[in-house]
Amino acid sequence: MAIRDVLKMGDPRLLAVAAPVEAFGTPALDALVADLWDTMHHLDGAGLAAPQIGVGLRVVVFAVDRNPRYPEAESVPATVLINPVLTPIGDAQEDGWEGCLSVPGLRGLVPRYRRLRYVGCGADGSRIDRTVSGFHARVVQHEVDHLDGILYPRRIRDLTQFGFTDALFPGEALAAD
Ligand code: NI
Repeated sequence: MAIRDVLKMGDPRLLAVAAPVEAFGTPALDALVADLWDTMHHLDGAGLAAPQIGVGLRVVVFAVDRNPRYPEAESVPATVLINPVLTPIGDAQEDGWEGCLSVPGLRGLVPRYRRLRYVGCGADGSRIDRTVSGFHARVVQHEVDHLDGILYPRRIRDLTQFGFTDALFPGEALAAD
C-alpha cells in the first residue's frame, strides 16, 4: 500500500460531490482503504476522506487515539465508513477547533451538531449504525463534509476565529500539519 499525496484547498477535486461505492470487498476498495490509513497515519491526522487523495468515492476513515493534533479530544474508534448518512439528533450545536490535512497549518472554530446518528458500511459491506456525540460526532461531520465537497473553512461563522495554528496557540505542542 502507499502513502498518497493529499490535495490542498484550491484543488477543484476537493469541491466535487463524491460517488457512492457500489461494490464491496473488492481488491480496489481494500487498496483504497489501506492507502487512506497509511496516508492518515503518516500525517498524524484524525481522519481522511477519499477525495483528499483524489478518489471521488464516498469513503472516509477516522481514528483518534490521543492525537497530538487534538490534545483535549476523547478517543474515537478506528472506523472505515462508506456511503455514510448522517442524521443530527436535536438542534444543539457546539463550537470546536478543527484542522484539516487539506488546509495545512491552519485552525478554525467550527460549529457542529453535538449529537448525531450515522449509518453506512464497512469495507466488507457490513452495516455500521452508531449514535455518537462530542468529538466523535465532530470528526464524522468533518469527514463526511469532504464527500460533499465542503472544507471546514466554509463552516466557520466568525472568521476572526480562523488562523495559523502557531499564531492561535503559541507554545502549544500541536503537531505542524
Ligand atoms: Ni479534512
